[in-house]
Amino acid sequence: CGIVGAIGSQTCSPLLLDALKRLEYRGYDSSGIVTLDGSRFDLRRAVGKLVNLDAVLTQSPLAGTVGIGHTRWATHGGVSEMNAHPHVASDRVAIVHNGIIENYRPIRARLIEQGHKFSSDTDSEVLAHLFVEAFDAGLNPDQAMQKVLAEIDGAYAFAAIVEDFPDVIMVARNASPLAIGLGEDGSYIGSDATALAHLTRKVIYLKDHDYALVRADGVDIFLSDGTPANRETIIVAASLGMIDKGGYRHFMEKEIHEQPDAILNSLAGMTGEDGRISANMSREELQAIDGIVMLAAGTSHYASQVARYWIEGLARTPVACEIASEYHYRNPVTTGITTAIAISQSGESLDTLKAMRHAATCGLSTIGLVNVDGSTIAREADAILPTHAGPEIGVASTKAFTAQLTVLISFAVALAEAKGHIDAARADAIHDQLQALPGLVGKSLKLFDDLRPIAHQLKHARSTIYLGRGHLFPIAMEGALKLKELSYIHAEGFASGEMKHGPIALIEDDLPVVALLAADELMEKAASNLKEASARGGRIILIADERAVNDIDFEADIITVPAVDPIIAPILLTIPVQILAYLTALDKGTDVDQPRNLAKSVTVE
Ligand code: G6P
Repeated sequence: CGIVGAIGSQTCSPLLLDALKRLEYRGYDSSGIVTLDGSRFDLRRAVGKLVNLDAVLTQSPLAGTVGIGHTRWATHGGVSEMNAHPHVASDRVAIVHNGIIENYRPIRARLIEQGHKFSSDTDSEVLAHLFVEAFDAGLNPDQAMQKVLAEIDGAYAFAAIVEDFPDVIMVARNASPLAIGLGEDGSYIGSDATALAHLTRKVIYLKDHDYALVRADGVDIFLSDGTPANRETIIVAASLGMIDKGGYRHFMEKEIHEQPDAILNSLAGMTGEDGRISANMSREELQAIDGIVMLAAGTSHYASQVARYWIEGLARTPVACEIASEYHYRNPVTTGITTAIAISQSGESLDTLKAMRHAATCGLSTIGLVNVDGSTIAREADAILPTHAGPEIGVASTKAFTAQLTVLISFAVALAEAKGHIDAARADAIHDQLQALPGLVGKSLKLFDDLRPIAHQLKHARSTIYLGRGHLFPIAMEGALKLKELSYIHAEGFASGEMKHGPIALIEDDLPVVALLAADELMEKAASNLKEASARGGRIILIADERAVNDIDFEADIITVPAVDPIIAPILLTIPVQILAYLTALDKGTDVDQPRNLAKSVTVE
């Protein structure tokens, strides 16, 4: 969940521990630091909170001026000291890694065959062994990095230190953030600038597919094929407290790019010690959930609407989705409902808080699905399902939404298993898809360039329609909300099949219609709804799973995302929808991070 590193003239372990403390907000279940003392690695790891690592370090301090550290949230392999990072291979290479190496299985099998001894169950450890293999072949750090990066797939930020090359920390990123700090007494690395605020204000953010060789007196940055790259050095605000823009133009742009990490961390929070999906509730507690009302506002409300498809479909449990500001005053009937889930990024929206309190007075048990630890909803709910998206600053929610969806589908799977509605194989297949999702989201982040010309046209529209069917219907509404919030263009989301019952009257020549399509059982029906809109002059902007566009026989601008199990299509298709709204607003010149009239956290009714 968090990585840090230091190389310079000072004993590094206390600096690294401080840096890890600054990343605590991301959540973690174990931690560790390794230093290179002369030509010897010295490793300390501990399960649980950082105070445990602190205690270990007080008892047996670490010498050395080069080191890396990590806070881990288990994805592959349970929570144990053995699986905590750093991982050291053959006493020659130590690594820390955030993300998932998707193709670790064949790599691990090949390396074991060649005699490598693994000491953990993690996907990450293959990195250390791949580097050992590269150095055995006589490569230098630069060549080793190119070789290893060519071999791995997935989302990652990692750092490695090497016994034979004690003057360098090797780092790389793809879809997980990584910052390099340049200080007076040395150089540092961290998952974000917050981790480094006590060390330096001079920060360089790596871009996806960059790698860097960090030395005490500076850094060299390259593209993954070895081409030298120039990245801007930023002076972060002295008042940095927690957050800065990380080299992006807007918080929203940064937060869109943080989604692989937000999803990964949120999924880790829903993964049990056995590596399977868990809702952090006992089987009995889950079995007692018989009917659910979801209470939320804005984007969080659309997350609840997607979740209804998952929870009813997988767990056969009825779900009602209520706009929080309406629920309380409607005097609802709660027959057949046992549980209220209040969904709120901030945990402070007054409408949602009051709706949850009302549900509690009606005798329902309450679950808060929140992104802010210690928020009012988190404190007042009977139980918590946390998202771990990190602080979200942009008023229009992005990473919190995909994190909410990740937690909600995991909850649906856990509930379905507890109630015996799906078998372990299907549950694990969905889990596998979710683990691949950070990497797929990372790939979809490349759509900025494809969407730019579409946004350039869209900004002239006075009105737009968003269409989706099944669990893509709420994504259509979320897409429309993003566009109207950010660019002030009128936008409405409709269920594709409902068009013919009224909204199709709105279609006139050149009306932009943003349509979502997955390769699911509704694909053909949804495509024919779009054809009807196209035939009446609508200009279709089709955002689709790459398998869903083969038979499109109407004119459309087509944007595709990688093929996925249709069940997670709502999460992946959200990415281009967010990017389109962002780029349209950028082109129009509106205030992206603070749109007019809106507030991030609305604490009034
Ligand atoms: C405000 C924001 C929306 C957000 C909604 C719910 O209206 O402008 O972007 O979706 O609140 O916020 P919450 O923190 O409860 O998820």
